[in-house]
Amino acid sequence: LPVSSGSRMVSLVVNGASSADNLAPTAVSEQVKSVANEELFYPSDEFRASALISSREQYDNLYKRSVEDPDGFWADIASNFFWKTKWDDSNGKIHSENVDIRKGRINIEWFKGGKTNICYNAVDRHVEAGRGDDIAILWEGNEPGDEKTLTYKDLLGSICQLANYLRTLGVRKGDAVAIYMPMITDLPVAMLACSRIGAVHSVVFGGFSADALSQRITDCRAKVLLTTSGVCRGSKVIKLKEIVDEALSLCLAGGHTLESVLVFPNDSAIKRQDTPWIANRDIWWPDVVPDSIESPIEWVDAEDPLFLLYTSGSTGKPKGVLHTTGGYMVYTATTFKYAFDYRKGDVYWCTADCGWITGHSYVTYGPFLNGATVVVFEGVPTYPDASRCWEIVEKYKVNILYTAPTAIRALMRFGDQFVKPLARKSLRVLGSVGEPINPSAWSWYYEVVGDRHCPIVDTWWQTETGGFMITPLPGAWPLKPGSATLPFLGVQPAIVDEKGNELEGECSGYLCIKASWPGAFRTLYEAHERYETTYFSPFQGYYFSGDGCRRDKDGYYWLTGRVDDVINVSGHRIGTAEVESALVSHPLCTEAAVVGYEHEVKGQGIYAFVTLLEGVPFTDKLRKALILTVREQIGAFAAPDIIHWAPGLPKTRSGKIMRRILRKIASKQLDDLGDTSTLAEPAVIEQLIALTGK
Ligand code: PRX
Repeated sequence: LPVSSGSRMVSLVVNGASSADNLAPTAVSEQVKSVANEELFYPSDEFRASALISSREQYDNLYKRSVEDPDGFWADIASNFFWKTKWDDSNGKIHSENVDIRKGRINIEWFKGGKTNICYNAVDRHVEAGRGDDIAILWEGNEPGDEKTLTYKDLLGSICQLANYLRTLGVRKGDAVAIYMPMITDLPVAMLACSRIGAVHSVVFGGFSADALSQRITDCRAKVLLTTSGVCRGSKVIKLKEIVDEALSLCLAGGHTLESVLVFPNDSAIKRQDTPWIANRDIWWPDVVPDSIESPIEWVDAEDPLFLLYTSGSTGKPKGVLHTTGGYMVYTATTFKYAFDYRKGDVYWCTADCGWITGHSYVTYGPFLNGATVVVFEGVPTYPDASRCWEIVEKYKVNILYTAPTAIRALMRFGDQFVKPLARKSLRVLGSVGEPINPSAWSWYYEVVGDRHCPIVDTWWQTETGGFMITPLPGAWPLKPGSATLPFLGVQPAIVDEKGNELEGECSGYLCIKASWPGAFRTLYEAHERYETTYFSPFQGYYFSGDGCRRDKDGYYWLTGRVDDVINVSGHRIGTAEVESALVSHPLCTEAAVVGYEHEVKGQGIYAFVTLLEGVPFTDKLRKALILTVREQIGAFAAPDIIHWAPGLPKTRSGKIMRRILRKIASKQLDDLGDTSTLAEPAVIEQLIALTGK
């Protein structure tokens, strides 16, 4: 059902149902079933006794202040960071915003006029305070036994060296630097070196293809690319430098020349002499990066850009989400501290890759800003076998573990025998992110991994939000499995109906946020209008998250999945339009429609309906070729799980594909196709059903 949105009409769907259908999702049906017997899980007295926020009352008071006086609240927190020059509060405000499209341009600013540097706050500050020998990174390689430890002093040294070299390459404040690297210590080092000199990093996940990488490099016109010769992920070798070379020829063909490629040799994956090389452009990192360990800091404005991170939306072109410095710094550090109830000395492990927002905010910036010890893991959870994660927990005595439901489900399938023999006493808090956590994964995480003594912190947030938005504060209130519980300090969620009316009390609808928070993204790179139409136009007066949500009688929030054409596959956000445009680029494919369906491990799987050129048979060879096309244009993680040949796609008389019906077919709900009266050619449905599963 189209939702009237002022200048634009957007069509919203809730995990397969149009907004006129009920808001119950398909992908989280297990969660919905459990709602009836909601069980509360209270923090233990011991946990609560030492928790940073230890009661609902304490939270309520802080929350009240955070929304009634956001300037005072965030100014107090921000004053715990180092500012070379304090922000401008001459009018008594530390932020300015307009999140109401009816009032004009959307604009969000926090701490404007303040001069700071996030790298200084995340690293130098701890060293200067005498904590240089504290461990910053415990690195665990792909192969067991391959390990490295970096103290804060070591981390600072590596950052300074690289920062200096980037300067000699001509990188200056505001220049974009692309990073395409696996989870080696030099990845967070690269991010921090960029922020040290005021360069804007754009990390591209190492699983993206050459096409996707070139698109991202070209979009931000990166001057320099930081990469690695290759990487081993489990038993697979990925030759990253080969992918880079292909990407850069595509950039060149498109008119963008990248000046320098700094390559970190990863001999365990591919030897130097076997790495493809382009003279005058490619540089071996250790050969040139100087030994000096001093590198002046570029003091930047709080509102100067910190990084770009491309994410998927409803249309084919990825969006360059732009975060700025000051607000993001204060927000990621604060959310990390309170949601994980972080204590000095804790060993923290987030399994995310720095190629995604979780790796930005909660592998790199949030933890280092708190001076934490961070485990960085290069490998995969099932290599050499399914006990790897628990071996790492035992080896490093991990206190806080943060991972995704898809990983939990994958490991759970191997059985408890991979977990139980390993010591997990050190664990205190278990975090979850990326999708709603279904009850069986929640129970396994809680009972088997955490031995019933660790709260599960189910954090709802997005690339756009910078940091946690709805999350338990684990010492302050009881958990309900599957609910991200309550808003973080300063966050004002609103659930609206399809007309944009805010709903009160118990309700279901579209999740929006009123007012800004410091970690909010400020724009889409060179696409401010798209930023406004995508996020602020559907429900005027609000930021629209793209998610459906229910609020229960206790005010707890239950995320129910995306309501737009974005699917969530193993915690990776994928725009269906991106996969469709890759499929139709194959010369034999004339049309494609991609939908998500419930997948036992991935959360959602990718189901693609394709029509082919007249007379072309759908063979296994063609199916593989179509999958390969998607792998080449986006990356292996976006490859369809199922390709369904369709002689025709169900369309309305005006030619619009009826995805609602395709979702039902994909989820095998064939008896419940809903209203089919607007179909242009009803016979198409019969054909599709007849072909289901073939
Ligand atoms: O649908 C929500 C889901 O992931 C989307 C954001 O994806 P991305 O920008 O890639 O960031 C992922 C990591 C923050 C959201 O719109 N999502 C994320 N966390 C949760 C979630 N859905 C339910 N519960 C969560 N805890």
